[in-house]
Amino acid sequence: MKSIELAAPLRLRAPAKVNLGLEVVARRPDGYHEVVTILQSVSLFDTIDLLPAPALRYTPPAGLERESDLLWRAVRLAEERFGVRLRAQIRLEKHIPLAAGLGGGSSDAGTLLGALAALAGIPLDEVERAAAALGSDVPFFVRGGTALATGTGTDLAPLSTPPNVWFVVVAPDLVIPAKTAALYGALTPDHFTDGVATRRLAAALERGDTLDPDLMHNTFTPVLREWDAVSRAIDALHAAGAQVVLPSGAGPSVFTVVPSQAVANAIADRLPAGIGRVYVCTTVARDSNASALQAAVG
Ligand code: C5P
Repeated sequence: MKSIELAAPLRLRAPAKVNLGLEVVARRPDGYHEVVTILQSVSLFDTIDLLPAPALRYTPPAGLERESDLLWRAVRLAEERFGVRLRAQIRLEKHIPLAAGLGGGSSDAGTLLGALAALAGIPLDEVERAAAALGSDVPFFVRGGTALATGTGTDLAPLSTPPNVWFVVVAPDLVIPAKTAALYGALTPDHFTDGVATRRLAAALERGDTLDPDLMHNTFTPVLREWDAVSRAIDALHAAGAQVVLPSGAGPSVFTVVPSQAVANAIADRLPAGIGRVYVCTTVARDSNASALQAAVG
């Protein structure tokens, strides 16, 4: 057992994500789906404070149950798989809306696993592989940034983060029970595509090209359109001047991407009240907690 004790408080920022493209390619015999997706961390953050304490302590924020909370499951996974015991009080402050397609819970878990790995000197790729046990988006959040994800979403290839990219994200106030499983379950083979557009988008990002809206697709768009709240958010973004509007993951959040903060703010200002929570954010680079972690290990 390797014990992690902190000399000073450590604040981690757990970013949300959007999917710059998400194509569902096939259904597998085990019920999971093969995807081709590009994940991008964005500057809407939960904060995870680790405070020096003689023993591990964590009370989840209101609305989260400790045993099912992904952050707590990440602590347990680090202990069981890597023998890492954290001696700290954990405080989680939620800002990323829950079950919105923005990866909040996955980010809390992945960010903490990445930090524990850095503090304990465990290779990050080992932690990424283990993180898949907590959910398909969790491995990405161990390092974040920009990545092409294939398989069930857990096979990662890092990409360069596109420069000068801003997002307007709308999270409708809509709770879809067992959302991700329900949305995948609603897909039929007619919805499946070959993933070529998203792979071309990834290749374009590697060349440093700007995001081509014609290559940005999300398989869940037609299924999500059946929810009025999602349709209203998509239509409102278009009416406010957005060109391309995509769901993030399996929704229900939707977003547009623009080349500057001024354009993003102008679109956000034109959105009507009552369509949901609106966030203007930009890209977050890979390993964004590295300097905080560096300071913590001295
Ligand atoms: O991996 P995660 O816990 O986020 O997945 C939730 C549910 O979404 C799974 O139980 C499965 O029904 C569905 N899913 C899928 N194919 C994926 C990812 C998720 O069918 N690649």
